Amino acid sequence: MTKIVILTGAGISAESGLGTFRDTGGIWSQYDLTEVATPEGFARNPALVHAFYNARRKNAAEAIPNAAHAALARLEQALPGDVLIVTQNIDDLHERAGSRNVLHMHGAITRAKCAACAHEWDAPMEMRADDPCPACKAPATRPDIVWFGEFPYHMEAIWDALRAADLFVSIGTSGSVYPAAAFVQDAGRAGARTLELNLDPSENIHDFDEARQGPASVLVPAWVDEMLGR
Ligand code: APR
Repeated sequence: MTKIVILTGAGISAESGLGTFRDTGGIWSQYDLTEVATPEGFARNPALVHAFYNARRKNAAEAIPNAAHAALARLEQALPGDVLIVTQNIDDLHERAGSRNVLHMHGAITRAKCAACAHEWDAPMEMRADDPCPACKAPATRPDIVWFGEFPYHMEAIWDALRAADLFVSIGTSGSVYPAAAFVQDAGRAGARTLELNLDPSENIHDFDEARQGPASVLVPAWVDEMLGR
């Protein structure tokens, strides 16, 4: 039995048509992240932040999972209970490909949250700043996204899984945002073998035992085939 923790980032969804953040022409070259992805930016201009996430929600809903998402779902089906996906992505392409054991550490574009009472619910396609919270009625609804300066979700469960992992695989992430960028070191210290699958060398490539470069739609199915002895 091999416990596998897989960290995914924007690169795994790139071939489904969803933009990455830091590649040339990426989302953070088109938008000022301090205006659209911080609590302070939301306080200054909630309409701008909602417009940004409404567009991303539409893109995510129109996207379809690619061969990399499908391969990870196949791995979990073949090794039930031994595969955990920790994703930085807010899209739901892992779930739509069939993965079940998925933790969204940066939140989910399909979910809404009340900034006043913390109630959470399924987000409508178009959110507006003055939509009332279904629970407390405050006009303080926000996307259920972890912004810069906020603490990521599920961290205790993630650290427990990293400590128990035999294999840690990082897919499609630049390794520039913490705490996710430190997971390779956390897992390595606990004795896991570590593997990076990414289009370009990440910022923390030297922390991995092995790194392979190429598109996720090619690298991930090939790696899953290796794992399953096919
Ligand atoms: N296949 C594999 N990797 C790819 C592909 C592809 N088809 N296309 C791009 N990549 C790689 C790039 O080489 C890059 O290293 O994906 C990585 C994407 O990096 P980022 O844009 O920095 O995205 P990510 O690492 O997910 O960002 C982390 O930053 O702004 C925040 O909250 C946001 O969750 C996000 C976090």
